[in-house]
Amino acid sequence: MNAKWAVRIAGTGLGVPSTVVTNHDLEQRLDTSDEWIVQRTGIRERRIARSDESTLAFALDASRNALENAGIEPQQLDLIVVCTITPEHTLPSTSCELQAALGCGKIPAFDLVAACSGFVYGLVTAAQYIASGLARHVLLVGAETMTRMIDMEERSTAVLFGDGAGAAVLSATDDPQQGILHAVLGADGEGGKLLWVPAGGSAEPPSERTLAERLHYVRMRGREVYRFAVTQMNNLIARTLDEAGVRPDDVALLIPHQSNLRIIESACQKNGFPRDRVLINIDRYANTSAASIPIALDEARREGRLKEGDLVLMVAFGAGLTWGSALVRL
Ligand code: UT7
Repeated sequence: MNAKWAVRIAGTGLGVPSTVVTNHDLEQRLDTSDEWIVQRTGIRERRIARSDESTLAFALDASRNALENAGIEPQQLDLIVVCTITPEHTLPSTSCELQAALGCGKIPAFDLVAACSGFVYGLVTAAQYIASGLARHVLLVGAETMTRMIDMEERSTAVLFGDGAGAAVLSATDDPQQGILHAVLGADGEGGKLLWVPAGGSAEPPSERTLAERLHYVRMRGREVYRFAVTQMNNLIARTLDEAGVRPDDVALLIPHQSNLRIIESACQKNGFPRDRVLINIDRYANTSAASIPIALDEARREGRLKEGDLVLMVAFGAGLTWGSALVRL
């Protein structure tokens, strides 16, 4: 089967903070327990930014590693897309800051906001640039410092998230079979307030009141998001495979967004994916939003789990509400 969009994942890279915070560390400062966190989420530890680290540093590390892995120089890039909801600054975009830090040419660079679905949205967007001939090499990054947006005194969200970045270099390919075979993207803005940050934007600029009421932190209606996520991930896998005419057995590796092990396990069970064909690293990184899939992708490559010709299915869902899947032939 020929790919819809002929692109090659030429390289991947990782950039995560070195500080590891375990569930036991959190037990010392929150009314929570390792047992609760492991049972409800599958998370055991996460990487947390030091006070002098933030999104650009992780994006830069991940990008340099991906470029080195791809054997591509920063000057060869035609486009940078950074998927993030925790940009280095509100202005300018993190992608522009990354362009300068890498020493690229004056190529286009923009940030893409689709929360935890960001990397899949970015993959489809980057593929359009390559398919149209506007770009040959695209640097696609998912980078987050979620712990700056999370109330670390609120146990219901503090235990769930982590920081870090993953990156991929996407390149044009002459092999018509290589690339994205099928992709599904969607959104439902009606569910926007299930997972949101009330203040800090133009509707509620930062003020003493918003700070005092902690409105600049993520608010999540966990159970409702959980229900949406279980249904959506299950349906997305089934729909993507069905529309592509591919069976679960044909997929070498499923890379799901890592937000809750129970959500992943439920979707895998319903769609007939055994655990050994699913990339799971939530135990070590927690939920890193847009960085979760590219971190997992890089881990899969370094573990030797990505072979040329393999089919890889990436699926994600998140705030917005948004969702996305991409079935890729390597
Ligand atoms: O990537 C973005 C998408 N986000 C997600 O995918 C998150 C989706 N939601 C979830 O993963 C789950 O809803 C959570 C892991 C967030 C919560 O699990 P839950 O099984 O839905 O728990 P719950 O919110 O219904 O809370 C159950 C109990 C409550 O206590 P009571 O009311 O039963 O006494 C909470 O207060 O657990 C309590 N609780 C905690 N206990 C210990 C909530 N957070 C904690 C905590 N430690 N950290």
